[in-house]
Amino acid sequence: MTAAIIDGKEFAAGLRVRVGEGVQAFKAETGSVPGLAVVLVGDDPASAVYVRNKGKQTVEAGMNSFEHKLPSDTAQADLIALVERLNADESVDGILVQLPLPGHLDELAVVSAINPDKDVDGLHVVSAGRLASGLPGLVSCTPLGCMMLIRDTLNGDLAGKEAVVIGRSILVGKPVAQLLLAANCTVTMAHSRTRDLADVVRRADIVVAAVGRPEMVKADWVKPGACVIDVGINRVPAADGKTRLVGDVDTAGVSAVAGSITPVPGGVGPMTIACLLHNTLQAARMRRGMPQDRRF
Ligand code: GUN
Repeated sequence: MTAAIIDGKEFAAGLRVRVGEGVQAFKAETGSVPGLAVVLVGDDPASAVYVRNKGKQTVEAGMNSFEHKLPSDTAQADLIALVERLNADESVDGILVQLPLPGHLDELAVVSAINPDKDVDGLHVVSAGRLASGLPGLVSCTPLGCMMLIRDTLNGDLAGKEAVVIGRSILVGKPVAQLLLAANCTVTMAHSRTRDLADVVRRADIVVAAVGRPEMVKADWVKPGACVIDVGINRVPAADGKTRLVGDVDTAGVSAVAGSITPVPGGVGPMTIACLLHNTLQAARMRRGMPQDRRF
């Protein structure tokens, strides 16, 4: 078997178009435009690139982008005060504080200061609680992107499938497991202490690898025909002395066994910002008591 490549780049492009259409419909209905505020503290170059891309794609989708750049020595109280101003600002529907924050700042306290109804990153404990309780709320972008790709690949046929999630992070593993459970999969959460990990993974119809270990999932771990979602982004040394990007899955080997697989790069990665735009539109609708957009 040669796995079908799940093209996250193409899916994300389509999602951005659908969000753009949703924004136009929202504008026609409410006379207003959804707004996303992104807060960047310090001058980490990678974070600056992410924030720039988020702002650019927000504007391209027809929404307002508000960027707040603060110096790296910003005091905790000043950052929280900004978050509170954004909570109260009617033109802001979504708030994202770019992580990681400089070491002297308390990330949990900052994220906890965000109004959960504007938590487009889905990182607030209330967002996690809503997800676990099956209540409507905002779901973090990478897990949401994984689910959209899985649903699309399996034509929505998830009920009763065996899903194994490798990794139990708050950012990816736990919310992905909750989403798969809500879609009626039988979910196993595996992690660094799981015994006989290969045997556990081998029973999965759906594998989500989010463990942060380069090319850990091998061909003989995977059930023939399985749908394999690789969330890993690892830099490893390349033959030419530079580095190359690999996931948590040995893509070349696993592609010979799996039914479908996300590449790295070009799989889950491009979905993240597209899902952030999707969440911003959903937050704008939710805050006005409008139902979720049916397009998604
Ligand atoms: N830094 C890298 N990825 C993310 C993300 O998805 N959200 C936030 N807030 N910070 C990040």
